[in-house]
Amino acid sequence: MASLALFAAAIGASFPSEFLSVYSAPLAGSVAWSSPDWVLIAYLTLPVLAIVVFAALTGFNVLARFRGALRWVTRTENFVTAPAELLPVNFGSDVHYEAFLDRRFRGDGGLLLEFEERGIGKGLLHRVFHGGSGAITALIEIDGQLLVRKFASGSAGQTLLAQYDWIERFAPDLPVVQTMGRRSDNGDQLYDMRYLGGTRDFYEAIHTETLVASAAILGDVVARLDAFHASHAAADAPDAAVRDYLQRKASANLNQVIAALPELFEAPSIEINGRPFALASLEVFRQLDWLVGKLNQRRQADIHGDLTIENIMVRPEPGPANWFLIDPNPHNGFQSPLIDFAKLMQSLHLGYEAVHRDPRASFANGKLTVSLHRSSQYSALFAGLCDDLRQRFGEAGLQQVLLHEMINYLRLIPYQLRRSPTAGTAFFGCLCILLQDYQERYPGDLPA
Ligand SMILES: Nc1ncnc2c1ncn2[C@@H]1O[C@H](COP(=O)(O)OP(=O)(O)O)[C@@H](O)[C@H]1O
Ligand SMILES: [Mg+2]
Repeated sequence: MASLALFAAAIGASFPSEFLSVYSAPLAGSVAWSSPDWVLIAYLTLPVLAIVVFAALTGFNVLARFRGALRWVTRTENFVTAPAELLPVNFGSDVHYEAFLDRRFRGDGGLLLEFEERGIGKGLLHRVFHGGSGAITALIEIDGQLLVRKFASGSAGQTLLAQYDWIERFAPDLPVVQTMGRRSDNGDQLYDMRYLGGTRDFYEAIHTETLVASAAILGDVVARLDAFHASHAAADAPDAAVRDYLQRKASANLNQVIAALPELFEAPSIEINGRPFALASLEVFRQLDWLVGKLNQRRQADIHGDLTIENIMVRPEPGPANWFLIDPNPHNGFQSPLIDFAKLMQSLHLGYEAVHRDPRASFANGKLTVSLHRSSQYSALFAGLCDDLRQRFGEAGLQQVLLHEMINYLRLIPYQLRRSPTAGTAFFGCLCILLQDYQERYPGDLPA
């Protein structure tokens, strides 16, 4: 306004007329431009020219400045309300904090981001553990004390509640992790566990300790669990309950696999890692009469339900009794103690942990290739476990454990298929390899 007033005074015009010339319809209605009009045009355009000359002489980049200003104004932070507690001090390192910011502002953070936003609270996050479920398990520090926090949201949160109750309930009877409280908050569930420095999961221990030490721990786990099952026995499962379990966990899952991987079922047989496999043999998982008859050890008890090698923790002091359990899955439908031993098998037989961490499989021209990385330690422990189970439950018992192991794989495949088609295919390949192995151990046992 001031510059326009000065301009009007300089050319001897009135301020209102110049104002209207500029802001009403500056170029409209001019039939023949008189000299004040040219001056007005010069007045309006010269500043632009001056800016361009200034920019050229000083290297001032108007576009870059404009872009920068635009970015600043449209920053995501300006539109998202960040909880006040999310600060670098909540993270063990700058790298962690930067990864968190990335997740947050890319909007694809998933459960880990939910944990960071709502699960850490005033704690300091040190590390996130590798787990087998849809929960987040992390090492955090609160008031100088380290603890392991497990967090899940929605329906997975209910599983955490059941886990916590199981751990609390059986703490007097079994070596289990010490709990340190739990919290439910708007659909989120979390519970804390004591962290003992130097504790490792059994997978890590097996691959760093001597085989003798690991075999002693495994033997102790089996003996303690067997005694636990005996002292927490429940009524035998009737045929109908076993059939229902098999219907839901074996048949229904096989149907899902066939629907999800049709290319694998185009021919009657495929080759798996170089060996022929007749797909019809999988029908055993839909022949419920045969399966119900075969699973004739109907003893039920309180069971851990997810006794994989990664769910056994080993304390640093040496000795066979220096282990404790985490991560139970107590509700299986058919509460057979053999399911616990089948979970140990699931780990040791084909090396489930390695397949789960990095599933690799490919299928082309009727040939399925699955990468298996079972270590020599796992092989040796597997052989020892078979002997131990044979002694405890007879050959028929071992056979049923192997059937339960395959049903465990069937339970895993839909979950792995949701992870990725490759993971689903890798686990399907494992199931077929286990069935081949069963046929070799017990020729003629499967129904024709
Ligand atoms: N109390 C604990 N002390 C030390 N490490 C633990 C503890 N609880 C869990 N972990 C580590 O976190 C991993 C995942 O925990 P887990 O409860 O088994 O989760 P998930 O249900 O995802 O398998 C474990 O395999 C173990 O390595
Ligand atoms: Mg686990």
